[in-house]
Amino acid sequence: MNKPTMPSPQDREAALFALAIEKPAAERAGFLDAVCGADKSLRRRLEALLAAHEQPDGVLPTQAETVRLDRELEFADEPPDEAVGQTIGRYKLLEKIGEGGCGVVYVAEQIEPVLRRVALKVIKLGMDTKQVVARFEAERQALAMMDHPNIAKVLDAGTTEDPLTRPPGTLSPSGGEGRGEGVLSTGRPYFVMELVRGIRITDYCDQTNLSTKERIDLFIQVCKAIQHAHQKGIIHRDIKPSNILVTLHDGEPVPKVIDFGIAKATEGRLTDATVYTQLHQFIGTPAYMSPEQAEMSGLDIDTRSDIYSLGVLLYELLAGSTPFDAKELMASGIDAMRKTIREKEPERPSTRLATLKGEELTTTAKRRSTEAPRLIHLLKGDLDWIVMKCLEKDRARRYETANGLAADLKRHLNHEPVVARPQSTAYRFQKAFRRNKLSPRGRWRRRWLLALA
Ligand SMILES: Nc1ncnc2c1ncn2[C@@H]1O[C@H](COP(=O)(O)OP(=O)(O)OP(=O)(O)O)[C@@H](O)[C@H]1O
Ligand SMILES: [Mg+2]
Repeated sequence: MNKPTMPSPQDREAALFALAIEKPAAERAGFLDAVCGADKSLRRRLEALLAAHEQPDGVLPTQAETVRLDRELEFADEPPDEAVGQTIGRYKLLEKIGEGGCGVVYVAEQIEPVLRRVALKVIKLGMDTKQVVARFEAERQALAMMDHPNIAKVLDAGTTEDPLTRPPGTLSPSGGEGRGEGVLSTGRPYFVMELVRGIRITDYCDQTNLSTKERIDLFIQVCKAIQHAHQKGIIHRDIKPSNILVTLHDGEPVPKVIDFGIAKATEGRLTDATVYTQLHQFIGTPAYMSPEQAEMSGLDIDTRSDIYSLGVLLYELLAGSTPFDAKELMASGIDAMRKTIREKEPERPSTRLATLKGEELTTTAKRRSTEAPRLIHLLKGDLDWIVMKCLEKDRARRYETANGLAADLKRHLNHEPVVARPQSTAYRFQKAFRRNKLSPRGRWRRRWLLALA
């Protein structure tokens, strides 16, 4: 079977431009947010093309002009970053696109063996570089076997001081000496990943006011990606919105899970419970962390830990907040934080919604294209049960697989009884009645009964 060929960046840009001009002016900014994500240079190029298109004579810049525009705009209104323009191994850093608890992320250009744009993440100081890279190497074979449309590949890893990763003729990333604080200082591990031009799944859903059903459809795709990885023996360990970006393919939203394999490689920090600041720096937010991860024994994490984090993500997509507030968890101190995650029962999503103050509740509902009472009603029942099954403290009570979770969500969408919920006769009857009501045959049968009556 022939594999579809990837469009070139120019083709893709032209296609995005064609889609953008079809959008009403008011919707263009949201569209650009969604398709460009963190790729500021793409956004500036598209904005420049749109501005040119709006000119009275409608003249588009020539290709040469576009290239010039590209160069001029590339780093405009970005604070200067000492690393931009420099080379790490065989990657030239073009633009800083993000910064997380764990490192700084750049768009980089890989020159050989193929010319392509990638995302390069330089890990913050304080990790044992050799261990991080060794752990990554141990996972590399398994990571290479992952091939899924909803997973961004992790392509490479190295250290900023490793001469082996430096092809002849390129500069030492550190300038050859010193162990400074900057990204280019020696001894920093880095990861190279597929570049995803998208935005966080939670932001995408809110900005485009996706309904609960549309959110669930998107989330099911995320479950499929996680299932694929689990089948290949890879646990993500850090599922959260900043690691699931949504991009548009032919106008359709496609979630892409990033950072696979990175949490495992950098997990040394997680066991270092004694140094609070380091922990804070590394985990960023503990809101998605499973109770067994919160133990921080560093041992015995399995795929069901990802199911818990998926449950937190689903909770947030449906109800607009995480089961435990990230800031409160961090502020409570490390022991209280671990205790909460391990012992406290979170509120059901519908209960959380019902306790929100007026305006917050209205906004949360509006972002889901509905009214507050309707949203609470939608979550009450099946969806509450499904989310809470993911969040069980005892992992043996969670869904066994990501596919199991996805299947239950599909059952809910099809008005079939979900396995997360105790199966009373009344519940099964209610579901059968609902399915029957919706099917054409059921409608006909009811009309016939009414006619007889
Ligand atoms: N492969 C990628 N493609 C496109 N953008 C990316 C990629 N990886 C990271 N980013 C961007 O960089 C930002 C920071 O990523 P990073 O992984 O460092 O931080 P994080 O996920 O917020 O937290 P953590 O450090 O705990 O993983 C992301 O939110 C995203 O916008
Ligand atoms: Mg990340």
